[in-house]
Amino acid sequence: MSHKIQTLSGYLHEYQKSVLQPEEFWGKIAESFHWRKKWDKVLDWNFDEPDVKWFRNGKLNITENIFERHLYTMGDKPAIIWEPNDPNEETVTLTYRELYEKTCQFANAMEAKGIVKGDRVIIYMPMVPEAAIAMLACARIGAVHSVVFAGFSSTSLADRIVDCEAKMVLTSDGNFRGAKAIEVKSVVDEALEKSNSIESVIVLKRTGTPVTMKEGRDFWWHEEVEGLSSTHQAAEMDAEDMLFILYTSGSTGKPKGVVHTTGGYMVNTYYSFVNVFQYSIDDVYWCTADVGWITGHSYIVYGPLLAGATTLMFEGVPTFPHPGRFWEIIDKHKVNQFYTAPTAIRALQAFGLEPLEPYRFDSLKVIGSVGEPINEEAWHWYHDHVGKGNCPLVDTWWQTETGAIMISALAGVTPNKPAHASLPLPGIQPIIVDAEGNELTGNNVEGNLCVKFPWPSMLRTIYGEHERCKQTYFSTYPGLYFTGDGAKRDHDGYLRILGRVDDVINVSGHRMGTAEVENAINEHPKVIESAVVGYPHDIKGQGIYAYAICNMEGRTEENLINEIRETVSKIIGPIAKPDKVQIVSGLPKTRSGKIMRRILRKVASKEISNLGDTSTLLNPEVVDEIIKGAGL
Ligand code: WTA
Repeated sequence: MSHKIQTLSGYLHEYQKSVLQPEEFWGKIAESFHWRKKWDKVLDWNFDEPDVKWFRNGKLNITENIFERHLYTMGDKPAIIWEPNDPNEETVTLTYRELYEKTCQFANAMEAKGIVKGDRVIIYMPMVPEAAIAMLACARIGAVHSVVFAGFSSTSLADRIVDCEAKMVLTSDGNFRGAKAIEVKSVVDEALEKSNSIESVIVLKRTGTPVTMKEGRDFWWHEEVEGLSSTHQAAEMDAEDMLFILYTSGSTGKPKGVVHTTGGYMVNTYYSFVNVFQYSIDDVYWCTADVGWITGHSYIVYGPLLAGATTLMFEGVPTFPHPGRFWEIIDKHKVNQFYTAPTAIRALQAFGLEPLEPYRFDSLKVIGSVGEPINEEAWHWYHDHVGKGNCPLVDTWWQTETGAIMISALAGVTPNKPAHASLPLPGIQPIIVDAEGNELTGNNVEGNLCVKFPWPSMLRTIYGEHERCKQTYFSTYPGLYFTGDGAKRDHDGYLRILGRVDDVINVSGHRMGTAEVENAINEHPKVIESAVVGYPHDIKGQGIYAYAICNMEGRTEENLINEIRETVSKIIGPIAKPDKVQIVSGLPKTRSGKIMRRILRKVASKEISNLGDTSTLLNPEVVDEIIKGAGL
């Protein structure tokens, strides 16, 4: 496979080249793709606006680079292997040709419903091949997809529909997750009562659960594709045309619609995929993420398929019907690269080694981690017991906004160090800065992680809110992209990510803005004010700890706590449900009225020996009460 770096000196050479001549570097990689018209300039940029354009005036369609480019040589090769939730149900394998035909057919179905280039389409679906088909069909037409994780509530779904003025929703009747069948279509129905831009809904039959179909608006997937052609002329896209919007939580306000465009995203996801995982052409690759997150976009669908890889998609959960399910799937499909999240590792580690015993793991060549810092204990367990001590473990740091992996070992090529994402990929220029934005060079330094030069798959804007994009990412340190993460360069020169430095909590690898959770809590009629912080959690990495000032009239504390948790679950989704709720009579505030989260974080983390000076607070007396209330 071209552009695959295979030696440490090769890495050093490519890295050097990518910094000295970034346009030549990325231009060369881009040349291996199919462009209907070549670009006339590789890069235009400034980080002040910000305004970043890669492959100016290049014309292409990303799905032609997945299908037409591969069909002659690998039409019969499996593109997607789908493992259903229930192990007794049959695996489905779609070859590149079959996936192409289904994508074209579905693109035709969407066009028949009036979808044209530029329209926004919401995908709210379980982990089935049709979710990938839906994304690819949008890309084929030039419609902009926005996948919403199927665990989000109807309110969250409605907010996203409204924000991007979507015209169509692609969904399913239900979703099999472990022992449960979750309702999906009914959530969409509720969301559509709170929004009015949606003209049609296409519903995939998956669980067979009864649903209401609104005449003239709702249509069955299988009926819509019937008899339609399985070829489709792909739309011509500009390199900078929008490919998708993906909503993610930030430290303030409502979720942000991160915008990714076509050409740069294609080049960057492909390049990072083959290099980080050292993918070889007959490998079976498995990423356990959900397509509702960026990892599912870049490393289940686009990156692997652009590389002509076989990508495995799993519908279920790691512990159903038994806690060895992941390991069973690795053996069953002879998985060569396995990519998962630290939270899953820790959850499975808690079952001990017995669930691993029946399996051989002998197909595995590379294992990977993403979503949050992986603690050393989980790193070693994963490395020793899953990787059997002989698979490189790639700890991949990146973000929804970066589109592709930024900092990671290249499996077996660059060194592996426990709990260190390690080195930047070629083409990526991360730096560590101090509070004033001065670059900290050399080893043994710690500060905020920024990126000083553009990369092809970076976000271009926040949908409809360019100013917010500028404020959030490009204003803290002028001239730099600020990640929101802290990082350390250790004495060997390897980067270690220290976690968020803003008000974002990373729960099981999912980003939650504290402000968003507080807003949801405040919707409860008895809540007067609330403050949410993260605290260390054995399995989730971070848990959500909420402090709430409430009117207790007519409620017991226990009732109220349950109601608050349910309110959040209903408004955002079960993933945002606070792990702990503490009812308090006041929140520690500065004289200017700002909540002192530092103190709340310390109490939540049970670190009360060093609370710092609390005497300057407006209400120092509440601190003791809060500590007592927390049982410390
Ligand atoms: C965190 C997920 C440490 C980080 C791809 C980042 C990580 C946020 C790692 C992005 C890692 C992701 N080590 N921290 N290997 N990977 N993070 O947008 O705080 O869901 O800012 O993207 O996850 O989360 P997001």
